[in-house]
Amino acid sequence: MASVTSLSDSVQQHLASALTATLPESAGADPLLRRSDRADYQANGILALAKKAKANPRELATQVVSQVVTGDVIKDIEVSGPGFLNITITDRAIVENLAARYTDVTGRLGVPFAAHPGTTVIDYAQPNVAKEMHVGHLRSAVIGDALVQLLEFAGETVVRRHHIGDWGTQFGMLIQFLDEHPHELDHKAGEVSGEEAMSNLDRLYKAARRLFDSDEEFKTRARRRVVDLQAGEPHTLATWQKFVDESKIYFFSVFEKLDMEVRDPDIVGESGYNDMLAETCRLLEESGVAVRSEGALCVFFDDIKGPDGNRVPLIVQKSDGGYGYAATDLSAIRDRVFNLKANNLLYVVDARQALHFRMVFETARRAGWLNDDVTAFQLAFGTVLGKDGKPFKTREGETVKLEDLLDEAVDRATAVVREKAEKVGLSEQEIVENGRWVGIGAVKYADLSTSAVRDYKFDLDQMVSLNGDTSVYLQYAYARIQSILRKAGEARPAAHPELELAPAERALGLHLDQFAETVLEVAAGYEPHKLAAYLYQLASLLTTFYDQCPVLKAETAEQVENRLFLVDLTARTLHRGMALLGIRTPERL
Ligand code: ARG
Repeated sequence: MASVTSLSDSVQQHLASALTATLPESAGADPLLRRSDRADYQANGILALAKKAKANPRELATQVVSQVVTGDVIKDIEVSGPGFLNITITDRAIVENLAARYTDVTGRLGVPFAAHPGTTVIDYAQPNVAKEMHVGHLRSAVIGDALVQLLEFAGETVVRRHHIGDWGTQFGMLIQFLDEHPHELDHKAGEVSGEEAMSNLDRLYKAARRLFDSDEEFKTRARRRVVDLQAGEPHTLATWQKFVDESKIYFFSVFEKLDMEVRDPDIVGESGYNDMLAETCRLLEESGVAVRSEGALCVFFDDIKGPDGNRVPLIVQKSDGGYGYAATDLSAIRDRVFNLKANNLLYVVDARQALHFRMVFETARRAGWLNDDVTAFQLAFGTVLGKDGKPFKTREGETVKLEDLLDEAVDRATAVVREKAEKVGLSEQEIVENGRWVGIGAVKYADLSTSAVRDYKFDLDQMVSLNGDTSVYLQYAYARIQSILRKAGEARPAAHPELELAPAERALGLHLDQFAETVLEVAAGYEPHKLAAYLYQLASLLTTFYDQCPVLKAETAEQVENRLFLVDLTARTLHRGMALLGIRTPERL
């Protein structure tokens, strides 16, 4: 058995048996255990139980305490206040627990898998073909990637879907233009950089738009092309494919910069559901979920109304027969539920699309595609703001090029790394590489460390600051431990459960034990910011530990070994936690 029972679970079990012995009808009740400043843990559950049993809470608490078996895990348990229990853990139990995590051969640090894993399809990192990516796409990618890592770690089967915008009316215009100016995108994959690919697309888009707006005949030809595209006319499709390929060169370059794996087969854009659209409409119409209204196929909701008080429908098919965003998303749901056999559909998409998803999910429920066992959830993230608190733009008021933004983060980070480089003895190559991990880590961490639903300010100065809740602070904590381990010479990390622990060691140890619980909670609730908060606290506890407990200069050889073991486990936990957020931890910094 590689998974380790956490200390809080052990205490929980001790309390549960003492409770059942005292008050049999309370079997299965939650003693409401949590970490506390006064003791190691506090249990507050007795109050409610006493109320229910019409007993005096302090008396009940005292009786429970007398039933608790102490010695192995629980050192001390006492009643406090109106009937709280304060619990202290033995030093031995702490070290033994951590040692089991340290030696877990699976490398999971004793973290168990979730009790009931299923299959989740995550829809994230979904930019649009022939369009520049913006900071909103950055958020979806960063949050989505962290959730992929977290869910997989928790044992969930994860299917990634990049629902790129690669279908729709504007493609008629683009295809027609490229067809009439065939050499504009003539090069093979690998010949152009992501930036060139983007500027090619941008140039083409602008030229096509100019012609479309000024030339009626071109407009007509362009409109006809949309019909050809949706009908799958081979030549039209081939031209469309060029746009998709060119865009992918650009997307991949951004994802690569972000140090994020995006796999081609997982890119299933809107076009991927084209063959399902008619059937989706038929199913909705036949079941009565959707109705014809002024020629369009619509779904109505009693509680969704426009400013005029009239109901605003979800339009599944337009009156001219065209299909839009909703038809594609509804077809994607059918694919994900019936072909991919998902039981959770997770959409990491901007909060501004919340109404769309509310209507789409409700439609799918009415159609029976979603139900209590197969659910959908939009992780509706907030807006990235500039330092001025307004949506993030360049000084000229334009949207910021994502690549420029990432480059700037890396430049700033490289400067920070360079300042300390001489002292650490870093080579130029290491400075460049670390600068990249620190810069990209800073951008990701800033995004992940606030709750996804909230807006956050994009402030590079703050992001690469060495003090405070930043990724580089965590990366330094990790590198500092590696430096100590290198300096340890002959001394090896080894657990010594017989030793008495200093308060800072206990605090660090108890927090390390909570990694498992935190990760599983974060995965279940889609809340990476709680993992960020956990890691930041871990690094802070480590700082306090250094202040109070010498490692290599500890009094005895056993203490040196035990402290090396503690910091090494801390490093492994930091490394694992950061990796789950998609952030690297350089060995020397
Ligand atoms: N491409 C869309 C955009 O840039 C996001 C797609 C979200 N996913 C979905 N299944 N609709 O806004």
